[in-house]
Formats: sequence, C-alpha cells, structure tokens
Amino acid sequence: SSMNNRSIAVIDSGVGGLSVWKEIVSLLPHESIVYLADSANIPYGTKSADTIQQLSSRLVNFLLSQEVKLVVIACNTMTVNALDFLRKMFPMLPIVGTVPVVKTAATVSQSKRIGILSTITTAQSQYQQDLIHAFAPECEVINEGTDELVSFVERGELQGESLTQILEKVLTPFKQAGVDTLALGCTHYPFLRDEIKKIVGKDVHILDSGTAVARQTERILRNNSILSERHEPTYTFYTTSDAATFERIAKQIIGHRMSGLIRHAEHITL
Ligand code: DGL
Repeated sequence: SSMNNRSIAVIDSGVGGLSVWKEIVSLLPHESIVYLADSANIPYGTKSADTIQQLSSRLVNFLLSQEVKLVVIACNTMTVNALDFLRKMFPMLPIVGTVPVVKTAATVSQSKRIGILSTITTAQSQYQQDLIHAFAPECEVINEGTDELVSFVERGELQGESLTQILEKVLTPFKQAGVDTLALGCTHYPFLRDEIKKIVGKDVHILDSGTAVARQTERILRNNSILSERHEPTYTFYTTSDAATFERIAKQIIGHRMSGLIRHAEHITL
C-alpha cells in the first residue's frame, strides 16, 4: 500500500544520529529515510527536559508534514527527556527511541563493572537511573555525562591532540573503576570509537545502540505491516542549520563506503 512506501524518519540534534542511520540503511536497504538534524539548536545535552520536549515536538510536526510512517529518535538525550511526551502527543505515530544498551553491557561484562558515557542531561535523568536498576541490578555502574565531545564530532574532528586530551579526562572514572564494558549513551560517540579504544584499551568492550535500534525499527515496521515494498530507496537530509556544512561533515564521518548515499542536504526553518 502507499503507507508502506512512505519514508521512515531519523532525527537527532546533529550528525550523531547518522551512527544509527547507517545501521538502519544496512539492515533495511529498501526503506527510504528522511534524516532531520536540529543543528541550529545543538547541543541538546545541556538543555532542560522542557526545552527538549518543545524542540522535539516541532521536529515531529515537520516530519508529519512529510508524511513519514515512523520516527526513530536517534538521540539518547531526546529519548530520555521526550519519548513519553512525544508518544502522548502523537499517539498514532510509531516512535522508536535510542538508549544505551545497558542490558547487553551487563550481560557481556565478566567483572560486572560497566560504564555508560552519555551527555550530562542523559546521565542525570531518572530514565537512565531506571534503565540501570532494571537491566544491570547486579553490576557496579559508572554513569558519567560530558558536554565536551559532541562539538568535536560536529566539526568532523575525530582525532587529534585536543580530542585525546578531553577523552583522557572524560574516560578517567571508567579506567579507575576498571570497567570491562562501556556503553555509549550518545549517538555522536560511536564516531569516536577508535580514539576511545586507544585510551580504555582493546580489552574493554565498547557497545553502541545502532544495531539494536535498527532491529527494533524492523520489528515495529513488521508488526505494523508497513515494511517497504520498494527496491530503490531515497535518502533525504534536512538540517535547521547550514546545509553545505551538514553535507560535508556527514560525508566525512560516515566513511567512504556510505558517503555516496549522502547528498542534497537541505536547510529548513522550523
Ligand atoms: N546525539 C545526542 C544524544 O544521543 C546528543 C547531542 C547533543 O547534546 O545535542 O544524546
């Protein structure tokens, strides 16, 4: 039906959600995807829950005007602060959220000492506390937030001395606690995985949420019988900030295998 061939939407405050987008592209190659970055308002990670709810409801309203069939919130900060709010506000719309994979981390950890690295708002949220209590009750959990990493990814600065310096500082509590598993609780951070690994050591498992979110998206599409029947997907990119910058940075961080799928970013005003 026509519903099936509508696009799914992937939203974030910036380019970070592309770490989820790329897993959805891989798992669901027939789905068309509209990516929306609220780059004019980044960072979300230092904003209040109320502000995040207002901003994200504007994003969803725009996406409904684009007739998307499902929304993936590819942003932990938006998920923990606004998912419940958005589901109440848009009860007919399937919405998939992104949270750190606490349960998987607790399962793969041998030492039962795990870390979660998020933004400040996410680390301090009740939602994250509840995840930890529900899914890692037998673990010691080091739950840390920072507002210093997102801008590096937004600039496409995925290595270098100043990044290393910040990472050394941010990752110290995890190293001191001797965690053997680190869950990334912000969708920007998977782009820093190589540099994080250099600092925490190759024996520490680093887990992001991309594949779990892609699988959940597939499940919801299947359960609603709205998987795409189309074979030629389209990929569209909107940003509330500068389109050329978004396109350049997105291509740069996504890697050469997928950079060809990113073009024609368009600026929108909400
Ligand atoms: N990518 C967002 C997340 O997953 C955070 C970026 C921001 O602070 O806006 O939490």
